[in-house]
Amino acid sequence: MRADAVIAELRALQSLRPVLDAVTALSGPYEGVYLVGGTVRDLLLGERGFDVDIAVEGDAIAFAESLALALGGRVRTHRTFGTAAVFYGDGGRVDVVTARTESYHAPAVLPSVEHAGIHDDLFRRDFTINAMAVSLRPDDLGQLVDPFGGRADLEARRLRVLHPRSFVDDPTRIFRAVRYENRLGFRMDDETLRLAHDSVGTGHVGDLSRARLREELIALFGEGHVDHTIVRIHELGLDEAVHPHLAADAETVELLRRLTALDDEYELGVPSWRLGFAVLARRLPPEEVLDWLRSLKLRRRDAELIAAAVTVGPRLAASLGEADPAEVVALADPFAPDAPLFALALADLEPLRDYFGRLRGVRLEVTGRDLAGLGVAESPRVGEILAELRRRKLNGELAGRDEELAAARELIG
Ligand code: CTP
Repeated sequence: MRADAVIAELRALQSLRPVLDAVTALSGPYEGVYLVGGTVRDLLLGERGFDVDIAVEGDAIAFAESLALALGGRVRTHRTFGTAAVFYGDGGRVDVVTARTESYHAPAVLPSVEHAGIHDDLFRRDFTINAMAVSLRPDDLGQLVDPFGGRADLEARRLRVLHPRSFVDDPTRIFRAVRYENRLGFRMDDETLRLAHDSVGTGHVGDLSRARLREELIALFGEGHVDHTIVRIHELGLDEAVHPHLAADAETVELLRRLTALDDEYELGVPSWRLGFAVLARRLPPEEVLDWLRSLKLRRRDAELIAAAVTVGPRLAASLGEADPAEVVALADPFAPDAPLFALALADLEPLRDYFGRLRGVRLEVTGRDLAGLGVAESPRVGEILAELRRRKLNGELAGRDEELAAARELIG
């Protein structure tokens, strides 16, 4: 796409028009104001929905404040980093950063930053396809700044780092490379691949903070259709670098496909990253799974559900073949939906299909209030009677409110 076509494309996106017009109108006093990073990449790829990232040569915070005013929105600033986010309209967001250069004092830790021009700002970035900018100043509106051959790499569907220390400075970029390979169908070029292998081999991934590692894994497995991701993290040795027992092989691909399909079929809404964590962690010694997930500082509930999938799921698959419906619910409910879903992906058992298709939704028509009306005082007895009624209902012994009430009377008696 020609440079002037980029801006035409941008303006064609009606929803962004007011934003771009405002940015251009405000850009006069600034050295440079650019659309940068993934926004330019996605625009050149013809994507329609993307975030708007702006880099300002000058005071990005002041720029963001004026932009918020112009759009009738509000601004959130991070003065130490020279960044701001502008929120406007119905869910619109623009991220504004001060063009900067970064230096890394040690591998795998966050860099220190200094104000700089757009070329330095692009040079601090991960891949050539993310290191392009489009000017939004009126005097050179639409001018593409592409010092590292990003556009050619987009056309060749190639991921290329800008310099040999890129993965040493920031090993999260190896995960990002895999994510882009999977999402875009691009591939790292030979040199980038070699540098990724070297960085993993030298142990830099292990130096990452647990929180950064967690974010990268969630992003990797949050994308859906991650077959290539699984194959690639094994080829690169990322699986072993993260944990020696992580499972990333053909069986993992297959199991995750089945889990995803079942999650969709029964509309369970389990986030895809959680399914990804479960298939990866399934060969860890069971007693270590929860500790490992907690070490990544996952939210407690997420960690428990994933751990249950890995440790309880196989037990459910092995034990539910002959269970009656009430037993299935009693065993599956405390760990639902992840563990029974994992069990169903391991073994296509009718009782588990019944659990997701029907049993999970079975509710009694009588309530504690009905029992009170029948003279049962508030006590643990109420819960016991309701549990027994539910057991009978699940097993098909009760149909409708009248039968439930009759059974309740019999139990009370
Ligand atoms: N970036 C980088 N190194 C990282 C993270 C980000 O160089 N470890 C740069 C890239 O230029 C990227 C930009 O910062 O384009 C914004 O980061 P992010 O929002 O994570 O990426 P996007 O490309 O905007 O979006 P996504 O990857 O989600 O498509």
